[in-house]
Amino acid sequence: MRWRDAMRTALYGPDGFFVRERPADHFRTSAQSPHFARAIAALVADVDRALGSPAVFDLVDVGAGRGELLHGVLAALPDPLRSRVRPVAVEVSTRTHDHGVSWRTELPRGLTGLLLATEWLDNVPLDLARDRSYLDTDLHPCGPLDPADAAWIERWWPAGPDDIVEIGRSRDEAWADAVGALDAGLALAVDYGHLFAERPALPTATGFRDGREVPPAFDGSTDITCHVAMDAIAAAGRTGSAIDAGQVMAAEVLLLNQRAALHRLGLSARRPPLTLASTDPGAYVRALAEASEIAELTAAGGLGAHWWLAQGVGLDPRRVSFRHE
Ligand SMILES: C[S@@+](CC[C@H](N)C(=O)[O-])C[C@H]1O[C@@H](n2cnc3c(N)ncnc32)[C@H](O)[C@@H]1O
Repeated sequence: MRWRDAMRTALYGPDGFFVRERPADHFRTSAQSPHFARAIAALVADVDRALGSPAVFDLVDVGAGRGELLHGVLAALPDPLRSRVRPVAVEVSTRTHDHGVSWRTELPRGLTGLLLATEWLDNVPLDLARDRSYLDTDLHPCGPLDPADAAWIERWWPAGPDDIVEIGRSRDEAWADAVGALDAGLALAVDYGHLFAERPALPTATGFRDGREVPPAFDGSTDITCHVAMDAIAAAGRTGSAIDAGQVMAAEVLLLNQRAALHRLGLSARRPPLTLASTDPGAYVRALAEASEIAELTAAGGLGAHWWLAQGVGLDPRRVSFRHE
């Protein structure tokens, strides 16, 4: 079976991994951190200001997991902004009973506000290819490439005949669709990925189960993930559809790493002064714990290297908090 079809069934089929499992039980993401949520709350406030404080501010999390990030952001938002925010979680396995958050399986349209997608795109099923053929789950050829996928490879990931390419076109389409759900505001994708000049030499496709990296298994027992070609999705979101779209939307793009983004949003991993340990030991321990969690979120070789792609619709993302260098 073609890699993409097998990945789709393994993750989202009737017994799929994400239909049955809670992501947080298997891997750690930034979205699980209250400090990350605090930074996103600062971004909400900034986007709200840039939009002129609309009567309703849509806060939509695509691939929301179990809603950890949305609840964290809501808890960190000040009133009266909190009362204007309409939170929506978009998930394949919806929860209907969740105080204050509406759960959907489909992305709502006509949004004004902030659309979030943290570690969503790396789980959007994609094809693998080598030498103009799709690959199956054993990495054997299983049919010639469609012209659109061949064009994607030529534009975004030109490779030698022995190299395996991870075709990001399905992610481009997913992201363009998500950006297109906004009438006005900011779309933010946070994920691990790469740019044209540094495409990986070896496949990044891998699996996670019970907190450990494992070979991908297609029986629904394992998360299957693959790094994101961030520049390709940025281009797709900018034009409002996948490559070769004619019409340019009113969208501006900002691409930076998580370490820089969180610093600009006010998070600091600075350790508390030692003197605090003697004057207020409890506060010292809390501040130390916060500093070490922020250090994890901003670690150069870890979560700090994740990409933040901010894409404005009717809004220049450089007008929001990221402008603080
Ligand atoms: C790696 S988890 C990330 C969860 C959370 N955003 C975080 O960062 O911790 C990816 C999530 O995206 C969801 N997902 C993938 N494709 C989706 C789609 N088309 N619609 C809704 N949810 C989707 C999966 O079910 C899964 O919960």
